Amino acid sequence: MNEYGTVISTFDGPCTRKFSFVIKKGCVVRRGQFVEVSIEGGKLIGRVADVFKTNRYFMRPESVEKYESSKPMEEIFPVSNWEYLIADIVPLGVYGKGEMFEEVSFPPSPGTKVYEPDHAIISKFLGLDKKGLQVGELPYHNVSVRLNLTRLLQKHLAILAISGAGKSYLVSVIIEELLRRNKEEGQLATIIVDTHGEYVSFSEDSKYTDKIKVFPARDIRIGLPNLTSRQISEFLPKLSPAQVRELARFLREMKSKRKHFGINELIERIEEDEKAKSATKDVLVSVLYDLMQTGLFGASDHPLAKEIAQQGKISVIDLSSFISSRKKQMVVAHLARKLFNGRRDSKIPPFLLVLEEAHQFVPETARAEIAISRGIIQTIAREGRKFHASLCLISQRPIQLSTTALSQCNTHIILRVTNPYDLDHIGRSSEGITKDVINQISGLRVGTGLIVGEGVNFPIFVKIRKRESRESRRGIPLEEAAKEFSEGVKKKKEDAKSFM
Ligand SMILES: Nc1ncnc2c1ncn2[C@@H]1O[C@H](COP(=O)(O)OP(=O)(O)OP(=O)(O)O)[C@@H](O)[C@H]1O
Ligand SMILES: [Mg+2]
Repeated sequence: MNEYGTVISTFDGPCTRKFSFVIKKGCVVRRGQFVEVSIEGGKLIGRVADVFKTNRYFMRPESVEKYESSKPMEEIFPVSNWEYLIADIVPLGVYGKGEMFEEVSFPPSPGTKVYEPDHAIISKFLGLDKKGLQVGELPYHNVSVRLNLTRLLQKHLAILAISGAGKSYLVSVIIEELLRRNKEEGQLATIIVDTHGEYVSFSEDSKYTDKIKVFPARDIRIGLPNLTSRQISEFLPKLSPAQVRELARFLREMKSKRKHFGINELIERIEEDEKAKSATKDVLVSVLYDLMQTGLFGASDHPLAKEIAQQGKISVIDLSSFISSRKKQMVVAHLARKLFNGRRDSKIPPFLLVLEEAHQFVPETARAEIAISRGIIQTIAREGRKFHASLCLISQRPIQLSTTALSQCNTHIILRVTNPYDLDHIGRSSEGITKDVINQISGLRVGTGLIVGEGVNFPIFVKIRKRESRESRRGIPLEEAAKEFSEGVKKKKEDAKSFM
């Protein structure tokens, strides 16, 4: 076993909440690493909260200044022999008899040796699962971070970080892991709402082509005959309840006569109606024209819930061609509702709905015109776990994300976050995050993250593994994109010349 050092006696430790040890010469111990110490009744596992240096020769400012003004102190005293590294430890739990983990209720004795814990013990202690999704590795320990599928996803996952920190990259790693599972291990259906068309690259990768289906935004249709009055009122927040009732009546009438019809036919029917007030008719016709303009509504739904929810496969809803956020919200609201209802009636398999830019779809603000999809996503967040309908919310603005939805995400993976308001928000909405952990989030580098919540027993830092699938061209560096563009222009000119 790798020995790290010896527990020391300090002003207020060792106690059950913290202790320190002096690091053995030549030994590397870093912040975030795990350590093990024997105590009565078992082995205490702790995390290095900080590492600092001390040297008694430099403790008194007056003598340091005095000596240094004549000659460097190292020429007078053996100062380097008196430099020590000390690590502060936060005890996490005790691995006792019967291989159970207990709370720390007793401190280690000064003088006890500190070791690197056994890898199997770290894994067990942190709640990792040998058969789980392999997202990366624990920094400084050669331990693979495999997260149990149920613990990670059943009660929803949130991935939070500033732009460019690696959120989509991590999602791609998780997708690869989901696609690797076989039937016996249980396969989910995954649906990704891809606002930037980044995940389309999976379909260009020969290893994945048969497991990915891309649904471009322009092909998506919301079937008018299938809409309930509740959905209509969501899409048309300006209608009064009485107007919604009238519209629902027209829809019912149309449905009783035929199975397929479009907005045009509905408008015609309203215009020729003699019972409704003309003011109501005018309002309904005008909002329906407005809906028609979106080009989203048709005589039947496309795609169907069962087409986008297929076990062991990924469906990418490519919304990159939509500029209007209202249209994006309508599509998401409609698909999410169909998926949730399908799951409630057990008509489709357990699914994971991945929402990129989640703050656009489940915003904290309830302003009706920008919150069309908010209701249904919050419903899935609250009730989804009972029906095995899971969410993965991704956002670079956690503070704008609905607190209801975020607090229902029982696992958070946090990559680099720098905005103090966002950090504060994360500190309040992620359980079990201590101050020393929060302080490290703004210093995280691309490719490392923090996992907190249900997915693990204790907050852990993780080095995200390399992805195996092809990366989207959208992530290429600025220089390359600029070069590609000018080459494209040159080629077009040449083509035009040779044509003439
Ligand atoms: N674990 C990683 N290993 C290596 N490179 C990574 C890793 N994570 C991210 N990157 C690189 O960092 C860049 C940004 O990553 P990514 O697109 O995932 O960021 P993002 O958080 O999704 O940003 P945005 O909020 O703008 O969508 C990518 O070019 C990617 O190659
Ligand atoms: Mg992204």
